[in-house]
Amino acid sequence: MNKRKRDSWGSRLGIIMAVAGSAIGLGNFLRFPAKAAANGGGAFMIPYFISFLLLGIPLIWVEWTLGRYGGGFGHGTAPGIFHSVWRKNRFIKYFGVIGIFGPLVIFIYYTFIESWTLAFSYFALFGKYTALTDQVSMSNFLTAFQGLTKNQYFQGIGTAYLFFLITFIANIAVIYYGIKGGIEKLCKWALPTLFIFGLVLMMKVLFLGVPDAAKPDWNVSNGFGFLWNADFSSLFSAKVWLEAAGQIFFTLSVGIGTILTYASYLSKGDDVALSGLTAAATNEIAEVILGASIVIPAAFVFFGPNEMKSIVTSGIFNLGFVTMPLVLNKLPWPQIFGFFWFFLLFLAGITSSVSLAQPAVAFLEDEFDISRKKAVYILGIAAFILSQPVIFFLGRGVVDELDFWGGTFFLVVFALIETLLFAWVFGMDKAWDEIHRGADMRVPKIYKFIIKYVTPLFLFFILGSWFWQELMPKMSMQNIALADRPYILGTRIVLALLFIILALLVRIAWKRRSRQNLEGEK
Ligand code: PFF
Repeated sequence: MNKRKRDSWGSRLGIIMAVAGSAIGLGNFLRFPAKAAANGGGAFMIPYFISFLLLGIPLIWVEWTLGRYGGGFGHGTAPGIFHSVWRKNRFIKYFGVIGIFGPLVIFIYYTFIESWTLAFSYFALFGKYTALTDQVSMSNFLTAFQGLTKNQYFQGIGTAYLFFLITFIANIAVIYYGIKGGIEKLCKWALPTLFIFGLVLMMKVLFLGVPDAAKPDWNVSNGFGFLWNADFSSLFSAKVWLEAAGQIFFTLSVGIGTILTYASYLSKGDDVALSGLTAAATNEIAEVILGASIVIPAAFVFFGPNEMKSIVTSGIFNLGFVTMPLVLNKLPWPQIFGFFWFFLLFLAGITSSVSLAQPAVAFLEDEFDISRKKAVYILGIAAFILSQPVIFFLGRGVVDELDFWGGTFFLVVFALIETLLFAWVFGMDKAWDEIHRGADMRVPKIYKFIIKYVTPLFLFFILGSWFWQELMPKMSMQNIALADRPYILGTRIVLALLFIILALLVRIAWKRRSRQNLEGEK
């Protein structure tokens, strides 16, 4: 065990806010509405809620409990936590590498996208795009900003890079101040502010009425209908189920290691059962109520049913950065509402990205016994270097590639490992006692059965279908343009190297520890 005193949360509300802050992110306001609208509308909510009950909630409890348990041994990341659960197995710690690798991979593209939201908050407030009224010019504005094209709006990537630097430094600064002094402080004001902005925007949308009297069908209730009317035939598609399960993982920040790390800063007797559930429920409110009530209905009243079909399938960036500013430009006070929208996204983004950076910092601190300051510097430099290809090769599909491995595939693999460890190695009876240690609620008994059998089977099933449907075509790069293939291959090589380096670090840390233990015994 390391000698350094580990950081801790200042209050129970603090960790709930921080976990909810991690969960509530760009996924709630952009990814969810786009996925729901494209995968059967209201019918999507069936696989979505089933996944929430059978995957999301169990994983929340597994991660909060395992995190607190590992924290008791001075471990804040999966290699150490897994090792604490299964000491006899020499290899299990290497599976835990995913719990540092995954968040780091998401962090390097997530912060870049987050920086666009900060830039667009600024553009909105200062009216940089208020004159643009059609899809083409707004889309040109976005692509020039991203450095993909040059036109009258931007001559190069300079502005985007500047906002990236600001965002990146803001993230690093928050982690630098630690769990209580940085992350908790940020989330305690950012989360309520985000809810207020979200509520204001939702109210605005609800009162949009019928903006164009010549098109009475283009009204708000049909806008909600566009999202929620159910197409039950979608339930027969395996893809819809996979998308729903994937959204649950992404939105709750489970299956990746961030919650393990956050929970490792709890003390032994702190509640995890009710706190975990509260954070998850807060995320669902932000997703299903706020997230669903802004972009889609607002866009519908201005673009109508036909155009909406292409809008929802044109990708979430288009929805957030092209469609939404156009909609807001048509309303009174576009500058204020534009700012509300993008700053809401920024707050949602930064409270998520700091949680993605924390596992790597915790790993260095806990396993190498170095100071937080030093750990943050090391992470900062590494993440900064890794972010560069994301910024400069944006048009080459690098983000999609990172999102597939870091934000989709490994989540399921990692979730399966931790559930099996919890229910089968730790043992369900012991696990049940551990969940209830200091708990403020009793978990319904049925979850003993769900965690042991249903969740792992569900995860196996998802992995199996992915293997055939996605992994094979993905590996062979069938759907990737010839010109982009070298970039994708390069991304894969960098990812593999990153994984190997992290695994080597785990090996070194464990060797060091066993040497120290031997010396201690002498
Ligand atoms: N939950 C975040 C969102 O909905 O945008 C994304 C995320 C954050 C995923 C942290 C994973 C994570 F560990």
